[in-house]
Amino acid sequence: MHLDLRNRRSVPSRLLAEPGPNLQQLRDMLNIASRVPDHGGLVPWRFLRLAPAAREALGQLLAQRAIERDPNIDEAGVRKERLRFSHAPEVVVVIGCYQQAHRIPVIEQQHTSACVCFSLLQAAQATGFSAQWLTGWAAYDETVQHFLGVQPNEVIVGFIHIGSAKEELAERPRPTLDSLLQEFSA
Ligand SMILES: Cc1cc2nc3c(=O)[nH]c(=O)nc-3n(C[C@H](O)[C@H](O)[C@H](O)COP(=O)(O)O)c2cc1C
Repeated sequence: MHLDLRNRRSVPSRLLAEPGPNLQQLRDMLNIASRVPDHGGLVPWRFLRLAPAAREALGQLLAQRAIERDPNIDEAGVRKERLRFSHAPEVVVVIGCYQQAHRIPVIEQQHTSACVCFSLLQAAQATGFSAQWLTGWAAYDETVQHFLGVQPNEVIVGFIHIGSAKEELAERPRPTLDSLLQEFSA
């Protein structure tokens, strides 16, 4: 499938199903996603591919943490947390690895790692799949970070869920170019 950049969109993770990309397709996407602008060539990101059993274990952990965070959470809420990583057939965690004391400002390293996430979304769509970039509370939860082996100088930039869209989706409102663009002349 051809990616028309004019039509790129996300598909919510709960609407992503099989087929997912095979290993070759996934590696191809990750190679595409790695061709990002990178000031200083620091390569401030890495990928973590979650195996199916790991996604299940992560879901269990999320359910447990959700109860610890909010003891009043209802059963439906716990179930939602448990299934968060079980909808899409593929989930890749993009981890940002930043050098604090470097001439390249951390914010620029963050920009690069964010580009990786977006580039991966584009690569997924260009390969005929759909995807969504999610963070949610789990990305910032220390127990989850520890479970995934995220180091002190690292952050979870995004969970990229990849699969095939189960249904056609309505377009969301997009800003018009005229609301964004000003001509500047000195
Ligand atoms: C850094 C980042 C984190 C996001 N985290 C979430 C999230 O946790 N939950 C959510 O519903 N959408 C989240 N989104 C929004 C979706 O990725 C996406 O933008 C939205 O589904 C609209 O899709 P679009 O790409 O077609 O505009 C996040 C977006 C970004 C850039």
